[in-house]
Amino acid sequence: MNNKKLVFSGVQPTGNLHLGNYLGALKNFVLLQKESKCIYCVVDLHAITVFQKPETLRSNILETTAGFIASGLDPVKSIIFNQSSVSGHAELAWIFSCVSRLGWLNRMTQFKDKAGSDKEKASVGLYIYPNLMAADILLYKATHVPVGADQKQHLELSRDIAQKFNKDFNCAGFFPLPEPLIPKNVSRVMSLRDGTKKMSKTEESDYSRINLKDSADDIEKKIKKAKSDSSVIPDNIKSLENKPEAFNLLSIYSEVSKINLDKVLKEMSGKDYSYVKKNLTDLLISEICPVGKEIKKLMGDKTHLENILQKGSEKARIIAEENLKNIREKIGLI
Ligand code: TRP
Repeated sequence: MNNKKLVFSGVQPTGNLHLGNYLGALKNFVLLQKESKCIYCVVDLHAITVFQKPETLRSNILETTAGFIASGLDPVKSIIFNQSSVSGHAELAWIFSCVSRLGWLNRMTQFKDKAGSDKEKASVGLYIYPNLMAADILLYKATHVPVGADQKQHLELSRDIAQKFNKDFNCAGFFPLPEPLIPKNVSRVMSLRDGTKKMSKTEESDYSRINLKDSADDIEKKIKKAKSDSSVIPDNIKSLENKPEAFNLLSIYSEVSKINLDKVLKEMSGKDYSYVKKNLTDLLISEICPVGKEIKKLMGDKTHLENILQKGSEKARIIAEENLKNIREKIGLI
């Protein structure tokens, strides 16, 4: 175990976990857990930057926790908890809101996308969301952060905040500059209906995504209906350039089968897309359905899930309080 490396990541409890979350985040979390100390957080305070129905939020926090466990995270090895139960996240986020600059936040592309055309109506929380994300990571002085490519800019902001804090308070090296761990081989998992959009829980059609709780029948239907291409599978990646849906299906297959895309194309070239669809369906059923079943089983015992979060929060709080004590001291708070 490498003691200097500390991994932190967060997942928002905003609904059904899907194949994009699984291949892009959860599987990677599980691998990292084998070699490093890891902290995985259900970021409920991030979720409320847009309105959540209280009963839905409560259930989603537990379901995301169930998704963590069902994917193979071990609450004994790693710290698994929900953000709002460790008050240091909110406290450090305030401090960072005083370190971070308006100009920095104004450059965040995700805010622009999420706030849409009527920025005046977006919550202030949505705007300062990256400061809270920096607080999540730096509260534990985490060094490595597995995230999707869409979070890279937020992570750069976390580094800017860490650097400015270290400089303003004359404490070089106090906060580490966290490194993103962006999975290389998982090209982003895209919508099954539109290969230019990320697979997402907010896209209207359920046919656009494979949910972890989907039945074998659902998976079969969705893959069958997925957009592909009318010509045959080519023998090289370049020919897929303007065919985002075909590229997406083949890359998901490559990722789940662990066969690199070049090799997949060599094996499948000349066949039509029903061939990769059939193979992908079988693979997904054997990999995803057991995870979905386990999530449903875990959701049948909410007390057990609450206990996991509570134990994790206790462990997280110990690290957070020690670090916060030093942070307050650096700033001059009494
Ligand atoms: N913003 C991340 C997302 O939407 C979630 C997140 C919150 C996060 N805090 C974090 C990820 C800290 C990594 C580290 O995906």
